Amino acid sequence: MSSLHELAHAKINLYLHVTGRREDGYHLLDSLAVFAGAADELRLTRDAGLGGEVKLRIEGTFAPGLQDDQADNLIVRAGRLLREHVGADAAARLPDVGIVLRKELPVASGIGGGSADAAAALRLLMDVWNLSIPHDRFMALATRLGADVPVCVAQRAARMEGIGEELSDAPGLPPCGMMLVNCGQSVSTPQVFRARSPVFTPRADLPARWDTLADMVRDLSAQTNDLEAAACAICPEIADVLAALRNAPGCRLARMSGSGATCFALFDSPAAAQAAQAAVRQGKWWVWAGDLYRGGARQASAAAPLHA
Ligand code: C5P
Repeated sequence: MSSLHELAHAKINLYLHVTGRREDGYHLLDSLAVFAGAADELRLTRDAGLGGEVKLRIEGTFAPGLQDDQADNLIVRAGRLLREHVGADAAARLPDVGIVLRKELPVASGIGGGSADAAAALRLLMDVWNLSIPHDRFMALATRLGADVPVCVAQRAARMEGIGEELSDAPGLPPCGMMLVNCGQSVSTPQVFRARSPVFTPRADLPARWDTLADMVRDLSAQTNDLEAAACAICPEIADVLAALRNAPGCRLARMSGSGATCFALFDSPAAAQAAQAAVRQGKWWVWAGDLYRGGARQASAAAPLHA
């Protein structure tokens, strides 16, 4: 029996501008996404049966929040989407698989955990089912699972535009460390989008690379997360997290990621971020500190160049 393994890294929005709105209600964004070392883990095992069924088991720190709606889990939906894409005849010949998800990222928390899991499942299933789908078609399928899934497929820093599916190269990133803090409350993404200020923010002007963290922090300080104020109004504890991060020794910038509630802070190094953890940790807050993940995805299906 073959066993495949993938990490699904947390996606962090270093800034997030809402630049407009589509007729279907989805918001147009300009955001710089990077990946943190923190990750969920997926293990896939090939089963004896045929038909391409994906049997999911969830374990790990945040498993209890996900047990109720397993049939609706993005990993299971990723399998369904690929089966639909290949058609009933071909799907009938696909081996069934078991996927064990070790859920170590907080659920519904603005760091794309569910999207990263879906993207990792797509990479694993493409591999074990030996599928070849043209890159543009594959990315369109990924977008159907969620606006954050395309960036998680390649799992490397990228600028996100459109509703999140138009990807282009991120500026070169300097060495730095990162801390993530989640207060333990999940906030609803549609609710946060509905509560945001109606003013649109222009697209950011970014350099080709940042040589130092000071350069990056200077430019990021001129940008915003346009969902932060709305998320803080819905969940005031996010403001407490941001205050704790800004007071932490060595913090260079603190901001909310995505639609929250997880916030991030940038430090000079992973060691500086780890050293500051004790100053931030309180109550039931989830705290992680370490390096950015700069490795990209393993599978060839995700390795195609980004589109400008
Ligand atoms: O695509 P995803 O399922 O992650 O989006 C969840 C919800 O967030 C959408 O139903 C929509 O209300 C909101 N959203 C949005 N604009 C985006 C992304 C998400 O309005 N670009």
